[in-house]
Amino acid sequence: MAKIDGAEVARHNTKKSCWLVLDSRVYDVTSFQSEHPGGTVILLKNAGTVIFSHSLCLTQPPNSKKYHPLTYVKQLPPGSDLGPIDPNTLAKLNKPKETTSSPVNEVDAENKIPHVSLCVSCPDFEKVAKSVLPHKSYIYASTSANYGLSLKGNLEDWGRITFRPRVLRNVGDVDASRKIFGHNSPYPFYISPMGTLGTINSEAELDVVRGAVKKGVHMVVSTASTRPTTQIADCHRAELQRHKGSPTRLFFQYYMPVDRTKAIELMHIVKEAGYKGLWITVDTPVLGKRTADRVLQAEEALAVGMHEEPTSTWETGDDNAFAPAMGGRPSAGQLSPHTTWEDLSWIRKEWDGPIVLKGVQCAEDAKLALEYGVDGILLSNHGGRQLHTAPSSLMTLLEIRTYCPEVIGRLEIFMDGGLRDGADVLKALCLGATAVGVGRPYMYALAAYGGKGVEKVTDILAEELTTGMRLLGITSLDQLKPEMVNASRLLNEMWRPDSFSVRSKL
Ligand SMILES: Cc1cc2nc3c(=O)[nH]c(=O)nc-3n(C[C@H](O)[C@H](O)[C@H](O)COP(=O)(O)O)c2cc1C
Repeated sequence: MAKIDGAEVARHNTKKSCWLVLDSRVYDVTSFQSEHPGGTVILLKNAGTVIFSHSLCLTQPPNSKKYHPLTYVKQLPPGSDLGPIDPNTLAKLNKPKETTSSPVNEVDAENKIPHVSLCVSCPDFEKVAKSVLPHKSYIYASTSANYGLSLKGNLEDWGRITFRPRVLRNVGDVDASRKIFGHNSPYPFYISPMGTLGTINSEAELDVVRGAVKKGVHMVVSTASTRPTTQIADCHRAELQRHKGSPTRLFFQYYMPVDRTKAIELMHIVKEAGYKGLWITVDTPVLGKRTADRVLQAEEALAVGMHEEPTSTWETGDDNAFAPAMGGRPSAGQLSPHTTWEDLSWIRKEWDGPIVLKGVQCAEDAKLALEYGVDGILLSNHGGRQLHTAPSSLMTLLEIRTYCPEVIGRLEIFMDGGLRDGADVLKALCLGATAVGVGRPYMYALAAYGGKGVEKVTDILAEELTTGMRLLGITSLDQLKPEMVNASRLLNEMWRPDSFSVRSKL
């Protein structure tokens, strides 16, 4: 076999064509890059160089460190071994690329923040967002009810359920796709509705749509969005044209206006704009006590020599604290504290698509939702922003499994709150959820990196999810079963009808 010239090897130094010399032979590792346990970058850094060599007796090549035995080469795909290197041409090989700066100093040139690739888990985005957002906007995103226990419970409960993985299953190919009301998505998670994203920048809501469509993730759009409902839908349509085949669909989060004429009018606008479902928020008859907001308001009042005046909570609006200032919808009238189950019958007459109740927090209401004929329930405590010590969505799901399991399978069940890891999504699905919503991680990523941040969060969750599937021993989401999790710690704490010697009315 003809020997390969070092100059030829040196030319193949890109992601599209990556050659290396391992011992005395040349290997094409292009297709192996994504599978390399040490990552792609280390291969690219050494593209066109000699990695290590015993037989060529290179005494001290700069990169002669041996990370693994040469037998690993056998794992390269067939055809990777291109032949022997010409030992007289070694000088023509590239020098390995040296790292120029410490990775922690790698910054997004424009914004002077860590490069987006340095965010590898969802919680990483909060710190960056905090450094770029105006203080008021960060408080708005991060605030929670009272002294924070609802939020804390949301974050912690995911970790209190553990997996019961199966081994020795063929998990080579996995499929993480899931349908929400018949609309396919590559993932069983979606972007939760968040009001007033315009507090980040005027393009923020459109940036989320752009990122979502690029990745095919579904999205629920808030009534309290800064941009008009119709404009967000137009942007979605335009993006679908640009990214043909993207399955992303928009659903609408509905804060029902008190005035019924306005409520119906809004539903018609939403329907005409092409939204695929109405997610009625039912956990906000009044605004919860947003403690950090209160402190900020008091500080602002004191700064202008005033004492903060207590306000009537429901008149201050919910998740649109900035709406008037940002040109969004006026806050008063967005929440209706007077809404009851009976309202569902006239809503149903006006809206013929799927209806989801967002904010169900106990088994009794899950059962009522089924009786009142809605299509889905979203177990949620509003990201810990409403009732103090509200149950996490996992706790509510366990209650439903115990006291009204008939709901599962007859309604689409969604959950949100504190979800920060793709593997945790699997726990929700094991226990009967259709899909899971993710809120703040998307908001923080959006604040830090715009649409690219939205894409990155989706990628992070998707990778954790598919890795989790393989390690759990499954290849598709319909193989998930309750036996694959150990929920005994949460079950021990679950509400029991006899805890106070009362009979269950369930
Ligand atoms: C900044 C912010 C704004 C929100 N705005 C709304 C809203 O307008 N309507 C709504 O139903 N829920 C709203 N939520 C609640 C989310 O839809 C979702 O229930 C919650 O964020 C999920 O928890 P997570 O942020 O821990 O993922 C908001 C949450 C945040 C953090």
